[in-house]
Amino acid sequence: MTNFNEIKGFAFDLDGVITDTAKFHAQAWQQVADKVGTNWTEDLADGLKGISRMDSLEMILKAGGHENDYSQAEKEKLAAEKNDNYVQLIKTLTPDDILPGMLDFIKSLQASGYKMSLASVSLNAPVILKSLGLTDAFEGIVNPASLKKGKPDPEIYVRAAEVMKLDPKQVIGVEDAAAGVTAINGANETSLGIGNSDVLHEADLIFPDTAAVTIEAIKEKMG
Ligand code: BG6
Ligand code: MG
Repeated sequence: MTNFNEIKGFAFDLDGVITDTAKFHAQAWQQVADKVGTNWTEDLADGLKGISRMDSLEMILKAGGHENDYSQAEKEKLAAEKNDNYVQLIKTLTPDDILPGMLDFIKSLQASGYKMSLASVSLNAPVILKSLGLTDAFEGIVNPASLKKGKPDPEIYVRAAEVMKLDPKQVIGVEDAAAGVTAINGANETSLGIGNSDVLHEADLIFPDTAAVTIEAIKEKMG
């Protein structure tokens, strides 16, 4: 594993890492699953984490065997409905909704001179960062609309290193989703997974929750 001394920047996922929008995504997608007749399970919800809006819809349709039942226009309508519901749910977000320990972690990274960029496939990310009062903490946000492929493809994490003008080897990617960890590893960055170690077993470093993530703890694990 890379030595911590080589690390110069952090690429953050947003949903489920900085704030718990994962629960709002799940809530809004569950309504779609009910509508199309796909059984909603915890495995399906986990598998959707980090996956782009249209890819998520495709996974939900496929899980119920409905992948050929909807036209492109109908799919776009379902995705738009999901997003309308989701946008209502995230309207309540304030800086108090930053996950435990994350504000301190981000501030300590700033104070120690690390660069930060955002590697979220969410088209709603700029609005969410603004509601959380975190826009200025980041060097830049990778524009998900400009990506050829979403997670688990490495593209977004390669771009997140470019935003910071760093070599991928100098970057730690921070994720709560298996697809995101795969993307970080594919980009040759160090992967830090937050959550269930069974789901995130491919990660170089695993933390059980956001409160456990500190510079000191990372240093200790990486050596
Ligand atoms: C990811 C979430 O960050 O963004 C996914 O983990 C979500 O659940 C994806 O589908 C796309 O988000 P949005 O806001 O563009 O629909
Ligand atoms: Mg996430």
